[in-house]
Amino acid sequence: MSEKTFPLSKEELENLSKIHPTPFFLYDEKGIRENAREITRAFGIFPRFKEHFAVKALPNPYILKILASEGFGTDCSSYTELLLSEMAGIRGEAIMFTSNETPAAEYREARRLGAVINLDDFTHIDFLERTAGMPELVSCRYNPGPLKTGNAIIGKPEEAKYGFTREQILAAYPLLKTKGAKRFGLHTMVASNELSMAYHIETARMLFELAVELQQKTGIALEFVNLGGGVGIPYRPEDKAVDYQELARGIEEAYRSIVIPAGLDLGIRIEWGRTITGPYGWLISRALHSKSIYREYIGLDTCMADLMRPALYGAYHHITIPGKEKTPAEKIYDVVGSLCENNDKFAVQRALPKIDTAAEGGNGDFVVIHDAGAHGRAMGFNYNGKLRSGELLRRPDGTFTQIRRAETAEDLFATLDRGGLDRFR
Ligand SMILES: Cc1ncc(COP(=O)(O)O)c(C=O)c1O
Repeated sequence: MSEKTFPLSKEELENLSKIHPTPFFLYDEKGIRENAREITRAFGIFPRFKEHFAVKALPNPYILKILASEGFGTDCSSYTELLLSEMAGIRGEAIMFTSNETPAAEYREARRLGAVINLDDFTHIDFLERTAGMPELVSCRYNPGPLKTGNAIIGKPEEAKYGFTREQILAAYPLLKTKGAKRFGLHTMVASNELSMAYHIETARMLFELAVELQQKTGIALEFVNLGGGVGIPYRPEDKAVDYQELARGIEEAYRSIVIPAGLDLGIRIEWGRTITGPYGWLISRALHSKSIYREYIGLDTCMADLMRPALYGAYHHITIPGKEKTPAEKIYDVVGSLCENNDKFAVQRALPKIDTAAEGGNGDFVVIHDAGAHGRAMGFNYNGKLRSGELLRRPDGTFTQIRRAETAEDLFATLDRGGLDRFR
């Protein structure tokens, strides 16, 4: 059972919202740092261990800077994520660039920054060489196909568009070597939000075995394997969080039985996103309206443009009402946003305390949506002309820093040529 905590009282939230009106995302720097240190303690047992934070989870350079100061690098999947890394002072091999259907310009940008390029397909060996030049260190993404089961969010590996087949992997490294690459990595990412430690240990075992096979068949010794992301977080109070020490020990056992006997000096990289920031971020909103038809609804001042996971995958996000933590959950609500989509629901038939709304007078209760620190605002969008919320960081000394303001109508219209519109007949 994981306790769902929120670091502020209702009074503190009232004070904060006088300066920063809801809705907004709030991130807790202390929690992020302590969590980062726990991961480093657990996985520091491996040679050249490096966590490359998946920028897509929380693409904010302030967060990247915090993580860089904890020794983390980044995992980037696009041109702009590379720029964000650079903005945060992260360059060189601290960046892994795992893209797909990659334009030449993005490979060139990754090369400019000295990032480790992780190829998604055999044909990209030639494409990379032709368009950006072959780097000294290069990595390939493995798709085990039917050899590994996936999970609900990511799907089955054999139906996934990512990576090289086993045969392609065995052929890729000798080819890369003939083209001038000298150092090599291997990567996979086969699950998403997976809480089973056995699953992740099995993934590591699979990569270790492939690294050994590659050495035996081609004489090429990999410098590292990257175990990818996909470790789950306990979104539901009854979920059990992954124990980092136990997971690292399970992977170490596989390392000792497969990698060490083969005489390989294999470094370990990971690229977790969700586990790093997910539990330390909240979407803070207010209850605006209630509605009683065939069901009871609570309408918030935010919507799925800020947090799409519930609509996209039916994902569970815990909800609490500050000041009513001890009030019995005697109402059953659908907690909804204002988008013209019926799946814009943060919670469906959820037992909650009776919620007071702004429409009834007063400020309306705060509604705190938990575990919104990863793949939250990042997945946001502007459909229905909705403007995405800003982001606040609670510093370890208890002060707040706005690390992104809320979008304005001007931001939304910035890509329109207004002068052209005036001249347009
Ligand atoms: C290539 C790659 N690496 C890492 C991640 C991060 O995954 P998570 O946030 O679940 O750890 C993702 C997520 O989609 C990904 O696509």
